[in-house]
Amino acid sequence: MSAPIGAFDSGLGGLTVIRALRERLPAERIVYIGDTAHVPYGGRPAEEIQAFSLAITRYLVETHSAKAIVVPCNTATSAAVPLLREVFPHLPIIGTEPGVKPAARATRTGVVGVLATVGTLNGDRMAQLVSTFAEGVTVLKQPCPRWVELVEAGKFDTPETEDAVRDCVGPLLSRNADVLVLGCTHFPALTPLIARVAGAGVTIIDTTEAVVRRVTDVVPAAPPGSVGGLTLYATGTDIERFASGADYLLGAGNSIPPVGIGELRTFGGYRGIVLN
Ligand code: DGL
Repeated sequence: MSAPIGAFDSGLGGLTVIRALRERLPAERIVYIGDTAHVPYGGRPAEEIQAFSLAITRYLVETHSAKAIVVPCNTATSAAVPLLREVFPHLPIIGTEPGVKPAARATRTGVVGVLATVGTLNGDRMAQLVSTFAEGVTVLKQPCPRWVELVEAGKFDTPETEDAVRDCVGPLLSRNADVLVLGCTHFPALTPLIARVAGAGVTIIDTTEAVVRRVTDVVPAAPPGSVGGLTLYATGTDIERFASGADYLLGAGNSIPPVGIGELRTFGGYRGIVLN
């Protein structure tokens, strides 16, 4: 069996990227960990996220022989990817960053809004992205911690979620933003709702496709004839909720079978449940 790609996020959000990765690279095996015992990552100190990210990456490398690590999490990328690259210098590690560069190119009003976690918005990498790619553009930073909670709760399109989307998007629109950057991998799960609230004329940017392209560029492909697959772990106890959110985000109706709840395992100090 060929070596898998390892991936992790705080919970369900990263599956928005995994879905696209599976569609593009169906022969790859992917082992994904939703660190639901610690979700949300967004308000945590960087040191804590580094500790979680290191433990998970070690597990993916040592137990699953992962040939690369994808971090479909803007917050963990900002806090921990530089450290992961130091600790695992020979391992391809692909992070996820807010699409500030395409947003700065797309805006006509000169105002863009970045929707992300507090950790991502306050991180050094965000400051670098703005100073490198958005000179002369007003970049409004909008934290939306409630959106992460709602996605984790499976409330993808409810009146409560619509209110939460309005609360974050409204202030950006009233300051004339015409581009919204989804700087958290949980947020593409709400794209139809965000688009409805923002209305025509507002461009929504997410970096899912950019991450998939980067993976196809730098990760050695599975040998010909390989059979792909997806193994999901969740570290938290509310496994039914994780499984049903995963079914929704992985896209019922595409070629991916629904996840089933499988065996309980322990790994790297975590108790996890293997799905599918
Ligand atoms: N999905 C994550 C991100 O892209 C983390 C959200 C959270 O746990 O706060 O930032």
